[in-house]
Amino acid sequence: MSDDLAVEAHGLVKHFRTGKSVTRAVDGVDLAVRRGSVYGVLGPNGAGKTTAVRMLATLLRPDAGTASVLGHDVVRDADAVRSVVGLTGQYASVDEDLTGLENLVMLARLYGFTAPGARRRANDLMGAFGLADAAARQVKTYSGGMRRRIDLAASLVMSPEVLFLDEPTTGLDPRSRNQVWDIVRVLVDDGATVLLTTQYLEEADQLADRIAVIDHGKVIAEGTATQLKASVGEGSVQVRVAEADERPRAAEVVERVLGTAVVLAPDPTALSARVPEDGGDAVARLLPALAEAGVSVPEFSLGQPSLDEVFLALTGHETQDDSPTTESEVA
Ligand SMILES: Nc1ncnc2c1ncn2[C@@H]1O[C@H](COP(=O)(O)OP(=O)(O)O)[C@@H](O)[C@H]1O
Ligand SMILES: [Mg+2]
Repeated sequence: MSDDLAVEAHGLVKHFRTGKSVTRAVDGVDLAVRRGSVYGVLGPNGAGKTTAVRMLATLLRPDAGTASVLGHDVVRDADAVRSVVGLTGQYASVDEDLTGLENLVMLARLYGFTAPGARRRANDLMGAFGLADAAARQVKTYSGGMRRRIDLAASLVMSPEVLFLDEPTTGLDPRSRNQVWDIVRVLVDDGATVLLTTQYLEEADQLADRIAVIDHGKVIAEGTATQLKASVGEGSVQVRVAEADERPRAAEVVERVLGTAVVLAPDPTALSARVPEDGGDAVARLLPALAEAGVSVPEFSLGQPSLDEVFLALTGHETQDDSPTTESEVA
């Protein structure tokens, strides 16, 4: 136990039994989140992110391992954990039939604010989250971005020291996503510790001081965004060919020139590959090599590696790979 850690987990395990099969949702996860930092848990759908966060927030009991939040054990001192933690996720506790303001007032009253104090706190939060104009509207009329902001506001009514954000921007348009990012930055400037889960490398890169990449319930890489990107290459090349039947040849050339595995996009004319470290020269050789192979390339771009490419680099399989965490139970 270290004093400068806000969240600590050792060998955390949660397996779900459905009929005869066992899903190893979280399969031995270690985490160490420093106070006042933003920690990103990055992984594809089904990786075990929500299950891990729910255990840290005391909503699920671990099958094995230990975890603590600000020194409080999530099983033995669950009440103490709940008093310092805020949680927001895909299933937040906002009542759709109430107005935004009514929701926050009600929560503040539940947390013991006086009636005038609750109203003041609720109004402050609505203002801070750019929702003052929508305060008197039922939450069910809110847009996706507004809904996400009222969820965040609801989790902040009692100024938690540690905040868990479960995929706070999944499905949001870029503008709303940026608003959520700004809110997270302000919270951390004010001294909060944030643990957020995400499917977007860019989001983890933008916000998180450290990142754990999880796959099939296990941490497969951990470090700063810079370390992570260095381990998977600095960027990614996206190539589009004119005709789908040119793609196999293009893939061959890209793989030979860059020396990294190609990710075939769902779009049959698109492919991408990460750029290896010091791969600038290879990237420069790519277009001439494609032309020489007789492949026409109407689109070619360089960008950040996608989560797919990070995963391919770290695990040898893509995020779409459904190789099951579920397996038959051995009696
Ligand atoms: N209550 C549950 N019962 C059975 N399986 C579950 C339950 N919750 C999650 N799972 C399974 O555990 C795995 C991890 O799920 P989850 O933690 O929700 O992943 P993520 O949040 O990364 O998408 C998935 O295979 C999911 O289907
Ligand atoms: Mg989830």
